[in-house]
Amino acid sequence: MTNKNRVTFGSKLGVVFATVGSAVGLGNIWRFPYMVGENGGAAFLLVYIACILALGLPVMLTEFFIGRNTQRNAAGAFKSLAPNSTWSIIGYNGVLAAFLILGFYAVVSGWTLEYIIQAVTGSLSGKSTTEFADDFANFSSDIYRPIFWTIAFIALTHFIIVSGVKKGIERASKIMMPMLFLILVILCIRSVMLPNAGKGLIFLFKPDFSKISSSVILSAMGQAFFSLSIGMGCLITYSSYFSKTTNLQRTAVEVTILDTLVALLAGIMIFPAVFSFNIEPTEGARLVFITLPNVFGQMFLGEIWSSIFFLLLAVAALTSTISLHEVATAYLLEEHKMSRKKAATLVSVGALILGVISSLSIGVWKEHTILGLTFFDFLDYITAKIMLPFGGMLICIFIGRRIDKKILKAELTNQGTITFSLFNIYAFFMKYIAPVGIGLIFLHELGIINWLKSIF
Ligand code: PHE
Repeated sequence: MTNKNRVTFGSKLGVVFATVGSAVGLGNIWRFPYMVGENGGAAFLLVYIACILALGLPVMLTEFFIGRNTQRNAAGAFKSLAPNSTWSIIGYNGVLAAFLILGFYAVVSGWTLEYIIQAVTGSLSGKSTTEFADDFANFSSDIYRPIFWTIAFIALTHFIIVSGVKKGIERASKIMMPMLFLILVILCIRSVMLPNAGKGLIFLFKPDFSKISSSVILSAMGQAFFSLSIGMGCLITYSSYFSKTTNLQRTAVEVTILDTLVALLAGIMIFPAVFSFNIEPTEGARLVFITLPNVFGQMFLGEIWSSIFFLLLAVAALTSTISLHEVATAYLLEEHKMSRKKAATLVSVGALILGVISSLSIGVWKEHTILGLTFFDFLDYITAKIMLPFGGMLICIFIGRRIDKKILKAELTNQGTITFSLFNIYAFFMKYIAPVGIGLIFLHELGIINWLKSIF
């Protein structure tokens, strides 16, 4: 089905940058280091990279196939590939995941705005490590300030979404992404030169295999899905805007490499500093926010560096919130025949409510927990560790069972105009390795495998 009136991304570079813009964000710079820190360092990194290669890359390519082939939103795509079937549940799972992620992601994005202001006004300089940690604790548990920034961030996203698909996304990511990359490299160099930096590098790169457990594997898998923006239809929605000549294989490989590189740079930037300033790697969600100000404190013209850094981080977060928002908006717009403005408003208001609750759950509502987790952590857990891998697993099963291999190959080779020499390996990973792997990890985490072992 070809829809001539649909917007497409303008230039080739635009396609890659917008998709990289979705993938690269707080997931790489905020969530990745804190997952590495909580899950024992290098062992986690190793499992993470295995997940990226064995699960992430094939699932990403498959999402590209679905999106460009159907040219529809995450839910509509399944309706068009398998009409009147229950497979569209994959799409709904994705739309819901996007919405829930937006809820807590907007809060952390809001924190980056606060840190821009603090950096610009000089409040990030001349403090001790404990003072930075206390400042963050006071700020994040405050009632009003974080909520104010969350609202501001959602408003910004909303504005870009209603102004259309192409212009906003492309323009922003083309300039800012390369800049972010550059500043990360500079920060890595500074961090590696700190006293005791070696300990951080050992933590990040020298695996202690005894640290690998099923929960570490689940965390690594969840992080791989979260970071690549896969398993929830985001890349289905984006690739529905790709042109018929976009090289899907190359785009998938490029996005994966860039995303992984940014995460690695974030690790090299954070861990030497963590050990140098005696911060616990297991600090969790606040790790990056209490570590980085210390690094800037050691730099010549630190205020300027920190201002630029947090500005770029906010933009990286913005290109990701845009993609999350777009998944839900495109769904409402196309499946429920709403105007773009109305669809976007509904999503924004919903995200705002989730954002406010998430933000309060870090402070005054800390005691109200769901399954022992604060609302913020709960949203993070069910999306990254359950809904995204589950969505990825179903996407693979769906393609393996419902889609003719010839159609798949034709789309991935642009109707035979480019080669795909690894097609059989890709198809094997997608049909067997990915769904079975993800399924086993789920079963293990739920304790079902141990239970079976105890019976037999
Ligand atoms: N991949 C984004 C990041 O790493 C987050 C994201 C997840 C965006 C899922 C879209 C979909 O920050």
